[in-house]
Amino acid sequence: MKKVALATLLLVAAACTQAPKAPTAKSYPIVDSLLKVMTLEEKVGQTVLFTSDWTVTGPTMREGYLDDIRAGRCGNIFNAYTAGYTRKLQEIAVNETRLGIPLLFGYDVIHGFRTIFPINLGMSCSWDVEAIEESARIAAREAAAAGLHWTYSPMCDISVEPRWGRISEGAGEDAFLGSLIAAAMTRGYQGDDLSDVGTVLACVKHYAAYGAPQAGRDYNTVDMSERWLREFYLPPYKAAIDAGALSVMASFNELDGVPATANRHLLQDILRDEWGFRGFVVSDYTGINEMVMHGYASDVEDAGRLAMNAGLDMDMQGASYMDYMVGLVRSGKVRESTLDEAVRRILNVKAELGLFDDPFRYCSAEREATETLTEDNKAAARRIASGSMVLLKNDGVLPLQKGKRTAVIGALAASKDDLLGSWRGAGEVESVPASILDAIREVAPVAYAEGAKEMGDDRSGFAAALSAARSAEQVVLVIGEDCQWSGEAASRSDIRIPGVQTELLEKLAATGKKVAVVLLNGRPLDLSRENELAGALLEAWYPGTMGGYAVADVLFGDFNPCGKLSVTFPRCLGQVPIYHYAKNTGRPYIHPEAKYESRYLDVANEPLFAFGHGLSYTDFEYSAISLSSDSFSGGGSIRATVTVLNNGSREGTETVQMYIRDLVGSVTRPVKQLKGFERVTLGPGESKEVSFTIDAETISFWRQDMTWGPESGDFMLFIGGSSDDVKEIPFSYAE
Ligand code: NOJ
Repeated sequence: MKKVALATLLLVAAACTQAPKAPTAKSYPIVDSLLKVMTLEEKVGQTVLFTSDWTVTGPTMREGYLDDIRAGRCGNIFNAYTAGYTRKLQEIAVNETRLGIPLLFGYDVIHGFRTIFPINLGMSCSWDVEAIEESARIAAREAAAAGLHWTYSPMCDISVEPRWGRISEGAGEDAFLGSLIAAAMTRGYQGDDLSDVGTVLACVKHYAAYGAPQAGRDYNTVDMSERWLREFYLPPYKAAIDAGALSVMASFNELDGVPATANRHLLQDILRDEWGFRGFVVSDYTGINEMVMHGYASDVEDAGRLAMNAGLDMDMQGASYMDYMVGLVRSGKVRESTLDEAVRRILNVKAELGLFDDPFRYCSAEREATETLTEDNKAAARRIASGSMVLLKNDGVLPLQKGKRTAVIGALAASKDDLLGSWRGAGEVESVPASILDAIREVAPVAYAEGAKEMGDDRSGFAAALSAARSAEQVVLVIGEDCQWSGEAASRSDIRIPGVQTELLEKLAATGKKVAVVLLNGRPLDLSRENELAGALLEAWYPGTMGGYAVADVLFGDFNPCGKLSVTFPRCLGQVPIYHYAKNTGRPYIHPEAKYESRYLDVANEPLFAFGHGLSYTDFEYSAISLSSDSFSGGGSIRATVTVLNNGSREGTETVQMYIRDLVGSVTRPVKQLKGFERVTLGPGESKEVSFTIDAETISFWRQDMTWGPESGDFMLFIGGSSDDVKEIPFSYAE
């Protein structure tokens, strides 16, 4: 077929109205022009996304993706990066296909691209929304310089399921905090102008409710009421879309019996009709084909038909659209106008990215060399990593003293690789300047013993570890999970620390030494035994490229820990699911002697570490709450104020949290639900008033008739430094 110069189409397009700059992916004249001349095959090509052979992020590989690009069969590529390689692929698309439509390059930039930040669950524990936005901005700049246009993030899946390995990729259990983080990450990635070469397109995933798989097994069935879905699971996806995200990834799971990949209720009714989403929807990796295994489609062709007709625009890696869409349109099973809409949405985003103006604008070897892993990026990674750590327990062991003889124990202490966590983008272990052990060595004389690996039952290192501990003045034990034990396809049925690591802690504690335990892990763990044995417990997650230094900063007091749990830590797996916004039930557990109340016979109802928990090296004291008025009505509001005092001897940052309870509703309401927070930094002896506004939106919910709004009645308001450590005061509202 004759090659049509893209430049000609651009000239025609330029004569039409000017394209809008705001990230709305409205209509672009170039897209109209293209759609008029594209063949059916060329249209389908734009709905196809294949992986390169650079990175493996799923079960299949496709030979010959270069030929697919050349033949116009594949308009989008993921897992290919570097300015050089993306330029090479883009040249094929632009110079060797008839229309020269540029490729879109996607990649999983999840918690950093080259400079790796803490895993997302860790970052969410900073409650520092600006810092999280900054991490996304840095990741976007680094990724865009390597030729990438599109990141598969933010991951907006709320989860109360610690068995599920992907809980590590999200922002924890709470929709309010999760929404702020989802919006911040979207802003960080996309900036104000998607055509800016320092930004990338965000992809809101995994839509929807992928974080609620039954039994915590990845990809498993999800079923929940529409009310629960809307109140506790959907808000972060919506927040990212409201912040301008122009792509969405459908999740692998089914919801109410219909796979998300072809779920019209999710993709059309809610996403497009209710929320006004204007971008495109991509399947997850072979998600269309998997509808056959789900038992929802009879074969891959049928799956393609169902997905396209439900509003799924792009097929990731499945080749269902590539192989069958032309036939489906010709046979009338898919309307050509439906395909046109999908293509239009995809091309609009390519236009929004500026790819029709200059397809090579993102591939810049110069920017790649100068904007990647810069000192500023690394300094931000170090600060954000320290701010993400949660001091779960401290019996006065921390901070440690510099210069004192320190035993450092545990295989994980010496690992640079584990610091990066799973989904580490293009982060490389060679870029990690120091393990935890290396970093501690810079501030104290160290005796290192491996003691125990993170897996297996090898106890041969115990004796050396015990002897190192005995002759040390302070002892650090680093334990946890191998970093590949969280992330995709990494569910566990046991959420205790694996291997013989806890046994080693038992032996170390038996020496009489107080042990400071540093935890590297990607999920809430059952730390009941460690909590009994350790002198201090520092949850460091997988802290990223600068994680070794960041851990040492906290251990030795250069950084005063301020992280607060964004997810509840149970006492044991039997308590799961456990989360702070639980309902009261008709028989709440109140009387210790009562039998017929909602309780366990063998474990307390309370978690080991509650949502919002996190200690500091200083102490914060809260005054009683004062209210500007004890009631409000209609569109009015009240202010709730507390004075927070730093009662210790060093500066610290506290996250002041506000929760509410609606005492009686047309449907039952949580006993406590996060509705606001503010981070304050106070010097020793300093105090500050912190105020929250409570209005109708604060107390709104999905009422019995499934409308969103407030109801008149009595409420309880709570403010404190953790969901289980709050002051309370009643108020009322009249509609
Ligand atoms: C499958 C994962 O579920 C998704 O999160 C990821 O973005 C894609 N693979 C692409 O790697």
